[in-house]
Formats: sequence, structure tokens, C-alpha cells
Amino acid sequence: MPATDPTDQTRQWSDDLAAAWERHRDRLFESQRHASEWLIEQVDPQPGQTILELAAGPGETGLLVAERLGARGRLISTDLGPAMVEAARRGVEARGLGNVECRVMDAQENDLPDDSVDGVLCRFGVMLMPEPARAIAGVRRVLRPGRPLAYTVWGPPDRNPWMTLLVGAVLQNGHQPPGNPFGPGGLFSLADPAENHALLEAAGFAEIQAEELPGAMSFADFDDFWNLQSAVAGPIALLISSLPSDGVDAIRHTLEPMLDEFENANGFELPSLAVGVSAR
Ligand SMILES: C[S@@+](CC[C@H](N)C(=O)[O-])C[C@H]1O[C@@H](n2cnc3c(N)ncnc32)[C@H](O)[C@@H]1O
Repeated sequence: MPATDPTDQTRQWSDDLAAAWERHRDRLFESQRHASEWLIEQVDPQPGQTILELAAGPGETGLLVAERLGARGRLISTDLGPAMVEAARRGVEARGLGNVECRVMDAQENDLPDDSVDGVLCRFGVMLMPEPARAIAGVRRVLRPGRPLAYTVWGPPDRNPWMTLLVGAVLQNGHQPPGNPFGPGGLFSLADPAENHALLEAAGFAEIQAEELPGAMSFADFDDFWNLQSAVAGPIALLISSLPSDGVDAIRHTLEPMLDEFENANGFELPSLAVGVSAR
């Protein structure tokens, strides 16, 4: 695969970040637990069913689903990055779950059989795919007729300062993060509910709904914010890790006062906005 292939690049960052995602797995899950609960409510897993999770990362959302599926049910937990899939596998072992299959799969190249699953969910993955229409067509093919798909993506940047402030500080210090955040595969590429509606309609889905899922990210202090975000924030984290220490210090120095307006008695609380999308 050529080094410039976007899928190859995504796999690369996914694998390089997997250790940080695994280290912070509980926190990353809890910080958007309401999004996971919304997804599970839409998919409504029942004992004995087969449910597919795409772009599962360390996999916590799907593991909650697996607990509902019982011994005869099956969760297929998938991610593009082999190291992320290994992290999910360790999560399965830690919970002693016997009904989960963890496998590497690019959601854009879904190789499951036709009509083989009862529901599909994906938390914060679809917008990162350079060709989301291929992923959604694959979902439609593998879903049994009338069964649900639910996913969450990030809403617009002005509603997600927990993410954009760090990007702003990086830019102000003369570093250009790779890619276009609004272009295909970008963090905000599916922030508009209408885009998601069009994507699903084109694939033949019905009962399409998109709703805002507001939340908040809490941090004990600035170091807490920095230690988490600079480790897990995708290409930005990789960019920061490639800088010499004075370059990192300069970004921290720019960023710290930007957080002031979000200070409260417990540290900092920054709003987040996800968009929850569901269809059948
Ligand atoms: C922001 S993380 C979300 C992880 C997890 N779903 C969560 O909510 O904590 C995005 C995940 O999408 C995965 N990913 C990106 N592109 C993908 C693709 N084309 N197919 C499958 N997974 C992909 C990455 O490897 C990464 O684990």
C-alpha cells in the first residue's frame, strides 16, 4: 500500500495512539458515556442477537452491548488498527466475556456476509473515514432488513472547544495539523445533520433521525487537560509528540489562558456536542 494512502495513514495513527487510548480507556468512555447510552438505546440489543461495532477503538461501548446479548448472542467488535483491536481484546478478557469476536476491519471494506447482523453501532468513527458512503453501503448490506444502524459524530467546532482550543494553540505556534478537518475523513466532516441524512438516504436507509447530544469534558486542572488531550487527540497528538520540548512548552503556554473561561470550582469544564444519527 503506498505511504500516501489515506487508509494507511489512518491505520498508522490508530496504532501509534492505541497505547494512550488503552491507558485512558475508562476516561475516554466515561467522558461521552451519554453518547454510548444513546447508541445502545437506538440499537436496543436483545439476547441472542448479533451486533456489529465499527471503529470500536478500545471497545467499551460494544462491551456494554455484549453484556446484553447473552451466551447465544455475539458482538463483533471491529477497528481498522490492529493495536486498537488488541486493546479491545484485553477489555473483553478483563470482563470475562465469552460472546465477543474482536477483529481488524476497515469499515469501508466490510467483509461480513449479507444480512448477517441485527444492529450496527459506531461511536465517533464514521466521520474519520475518507469514504463514509462505502462504510454506510457496507452496513446496509450486512444488516438484516429493518434492523437499526446508529452512530455518533462530532458537531461543529464552535460547540466543541475541548478539541478546538488545542488545535488553535498548535496553529498559533506555526504548526499545521495534517488534513482538512471539514474535508472527507476530517473530524468535522459530518457535523451537519443534513449531510448525515443525505448519506443514509443515498444508501437506501429510512426512518433517518439526527439529534444533538450535548455533553461536557471535565478536567481537574490544566495539566490534566494537557496530559489527556496531547496523548489521545489523533493527528494533533502525533504532531505534538514529534516536537522538541521548547515547541511543546510554547503550545502549553499559548493554551493555558485559553481555558480560563471554562474554569469552575472543580477545575475546568468544556462543552462538547455530538450528533447522534440513527436509521433502519
Ligand atoms: C475517535 S476513535 C473512537 C473509538 C471508540 N469508538 C470510542 O468512541 O471511544 C476513532 C476510531 O476509529 C478507527 N477508525 C478510523 N478509520 C476507520 C476505518 N476506516 N475503519 C474502521 N475503523 C476506523 C480508529 O482506528 C479509532 O480507533
